[in-house]
Amino acid sequence: MNNKDIQTNLFRYISKLRYLYDNKLSDKDIVFLRENLNKQEQILFYSMTALDQRHSLAVAYALQEMIGRKTKLNLDKLLKVALLHDVGKARAKLRVPDRIFQVLLFVLCKPLANYLANKGALYQTGYWRRILYIYKYHPQVGANLLKDIGLSAGIIYLVEHHHDAFQPEEAKELTVLREADRLN
Ligand SMILES: [Fe+2]
Repeated sequence: MNNKDIQTNLFRYISKLRYLYDNKLSDKDIVFLRENLNKQEQILFYSMTALDQRHSLAVAYALQEMIGRKTKLNLDKLLKVALLHDVGKARAKLRVPDRIFQVLLFVLCKPLANYLANKGALYQTGYWRRILYIYKYHPQVGANLLKDIGLSAGIIYLVEHHHDAFQPEEAKELTVLREADRLN
C-alpha cells in the first residue's frame, strides 16, 4: 500500500466517525427501515451501534441513487443487503478509541493486524478477538447471523463477500455494494 492509498483509507475511515455526532435516525429513516426490513431483520439492524446504523443507511440511500429502478439489478435485495451488510460488527460493541486503534492498525500495519485478528479467532475471547477479529471477519459473522434468520443465499453471499477484492467476473451487485460502502 503506497502513501496515497494509506491517506485515502485513513480519510475514508475517519470520515465515517462523523456519524458519532450525527447519529439520530430521522422519521424518514425509520419508515425506510420498516419498508425494507422485516421485524427480525430490524432487530438485527438495531443491534448495531448508532454509527454503523447511520453508515448502513447511507450505503442504502447511495445505492438507491446509483441504480434507481432502471437497471436489471434487484434494488429491494440490494437495499436489504446495504442495511445489514455490517451486522457482524454488532458482536463487537466497539468504543470510539477501539475503532480508531482498529482502523489505524489495519491501515498502517496489516500483517500485524491480521496476525492479532487470527490470534483472536484462536482464543475465542478477549480484546484482540473483539477488536481485530470482528473487524476482519465481520462479513462472515454477519452472513452467519443472516443465515440463522433464514435470509436467501444471494443476500448471504453479498454480505459475506462485501470486503473481498474486486474480481472481473464477480456479480455486478457485489461491485455496486462495495462502491456504495467505500463512498459512505
Ligand atoms: Fe463491512
